[in-house]
Amino acid sequence: MTKDEAVSRVCELRNLLDEANKQYYDQAQPVISDRQYDTYMQELMGLEDAYGLHDPASPSRRVGESISEAFTTVEHPRAMLSLANTYNEQELREFDRRVKDLLGSRPFTYFVELKFDGMALRLRYENGVLQLAATRGNGRQGDDITQNVRTLRDIPLKLSTDNWPEIVEVRGEAYMEREAFARFNAQRQENGEAAFANPRNATAGSLKLLDSSLTARRPIRFFCYDLILDQETDSTHLQRMQMLEQWGLRVCSHRWTCQTIEDVLKIIQSLEHTRKDLPYDTDGVVVKVNEDRYREELGYTAKAPKWAIAYKFEAEQATTTIRDITLQVGRLGTITPVAELEPVLLAGTTVKRASLHNQDEITRKDIRIGDRVIIEKAGEIIPQVVQVASPDDPGRSQPYVIPLQCPACQSELVQSPGEVALRCVNPECPPQVRIRIEHFASRDAMDIDGMGEAVIDQLVGANLIHNYADLYKLTVEDLLPLDRMAQKSARNLIHAIQQSKNKPFDRLLFGLGIRFVGSTVARDLADAYSTIDALMQASEDQIADVHGIGVKIAASVRDFMDRPENQRIIEQLRDYGLKLHHEKQEVHSNSLEGCTFVITGTLPSLSRKEAAELIQAHAGSVTGSVSKNTTYVLAGESAGSKLDKAQKLGIKVVSEEDLKSMIS
Ligand code: IVH
Repeated sequence: MTKDEAVSRVCELRNLLDEANKQYYDQAQPVISDRQYDTYMQELMGLEDAYGLHDPASPSRRVGESISEAFTTVEHPRAMLSLANTYNEQELREFDRRVKDLLGSRPFTYFVELKFDGMALRLRYENGVLQLAATRGNGRQGDDITQNVRTLRDIPLKLSTDNWPEIVEVRGEAYMEREAFARFNAQRQENGEAAFANPRNATAGSLKLLDSSLTARRPIRFFCYDLILDQETDSTHLQRMQMLEQWGLRVCSHRWTCQTIEDVLKIIQSLEHTRKDLPYDTDGVVVKVNEDRYREELGYTAKAPKWAIAYKFEAEQATTTIRDITLQVGRLGTITPVAELEPVLLAGTTVKRASLHNQDEITRKDIRIGDRVIIEKAGEIIPQVVQVASPDDPGRSQPYVIPLQCPACQSELVQSPGEVALRCVNPECPPQVRIRIEHFASRDAMDIDGMGEAVIDQLVGANLIHNYADLYKLTVEDLLPLDRMAQKSARNLIHAIQQSKNKPFDRLLFGLGIRFVGSTVARDLADAYSTIDALMQASEDQIADVHGIGVKIAASVRDFMDRPENQRIIEQLRDYGLKLHHEKQEVHSNSLEGCTFVITGTLPSLSRKEAAELIQAHAGSVTGSVSKNTTYVLAGESAGSKLDKAQKLGIKVVSEEDLKSMIS
């Protein structure tokens, strides 16, 4: 390679990496795989070294990424560095050699832990109380996302016991477990929202939401992987992890102390097989020199410590052909494009289909019918199309555009403003009817045992039912002609349907299948409105005022309730004797009758939920935002804008103690 060629390649690599960094951290949407990123980075660093092309602005000099403007920027007292990466045994042995060369004959051990695939966070506890949570940002400065992080249940707001130093700095990784991610993503798709490509993106996206009450509903977990002590100590990494555990922080139990690099390699080998059984994604292991006293001596590069290295597992990939792109219709009419693949073996299973998520994704990757594509298992479970294998092939078909017609009922598809997904809005669209009934009968809704896909298909096909209310008029005789339906199973099924009438109001509300109303929102709505009639009469603003509900959900509830076809179904459910009212928790007194509370900040002893229950038990109600209808604002520590607003509107602010004396 001539110097000119090197200069031009370096330039190209810097652009690619800059772009990838920006996409990865700003939009939580990677453009290239991690593996590809690491390969580019290594090539860039190699060329910069070989041809003396160093530049302080090169991505190789920076740890990462830019900072979002929506959050306050905070300085990291100690830079949040990256880790050197390797994908092979030889480089790991070279790392071991470098450490040994520096430490000479002094004994040391390796600490091996999993590399979690999520988003790095820094937590700061002052006198045992969580004061700050920040993203890594560019390594020197990050975003203050304390409000959002406070909602993560794995992160204690106060440290337990009291043997902690005044300042505790913790580093760790926020992530989502695979199953929770799959459920959350499926729910999003049903709600007509764009799916996230993997748990990491979903975590990053969730932690950067501007509304922390939404973050609170995301299944985000957290593992600590470092504790930074101000004082030099003679501890080991293992001991510091144990301290964190003692203080109530969460540390992964998959961790090993090794005497030699051979022992480290054995652990890596066994993890290659067992890591798929973990409930979360891990893209490798991190090998750290265990004894703190050697860390300063081993030192740091501009980007990473020299006392640690990440060994990354290869993501298994395969190449196959897209035979066709089909469209799937969801319960709420959301259209999801799916790649129908030439069957191919990938990480132990045959893959035939892969979701293409939405039109934007197809356009971004320029995926076309007939293409040879590289597929990968994201999180070892869900197959993804990573990229087109030969984009320059002259024989490719036309760019793929989702047709604007529902594949099931041929009605025209619509795209709501600001949404990526296309939807079929015909309420009679057969697959939607079927999926709505399936949802109604599902475990978290009315839990009708035996009412599965096959039975529903036949019932809808035979014109016996047109909506979920029709389930309650079915008789044993109606069921007998169905495939594989004997007397006994027909009787059991009818019994299960009748039994479901006793399900509580919030489960029914969830079962109705209102867009954006998942089981938690349904519970909140049932808590705030004790009957369906009250909910049907509430205005959009009133619904939006309920704690945890926003304008988007409120508009969707109103839209559902305003449709005559839904009103008819609700009347039928009432006639069949279903529970259209909330069996409220016991009311202990009426002392707060007519009072509307808004709760803000951290209360000294009660969680917000407990405070809300206490208020409701004394006949008061709780809403989410301060308005002229608010009677009291119950404020705790670090109360924010709601407190300001209350003061502006002249609304009385009370403490937890005041509340307790009001009801006693
Ligand atoms: S230690 C100074 N340990 O990997 C080095 N990092 O590539 C501190 N990560 O930003 C990192 N699991 O987000 C460490 N067990 C682990 C980790 C881990 C995941 C992430 C972390 C960091 C990135 C570096």
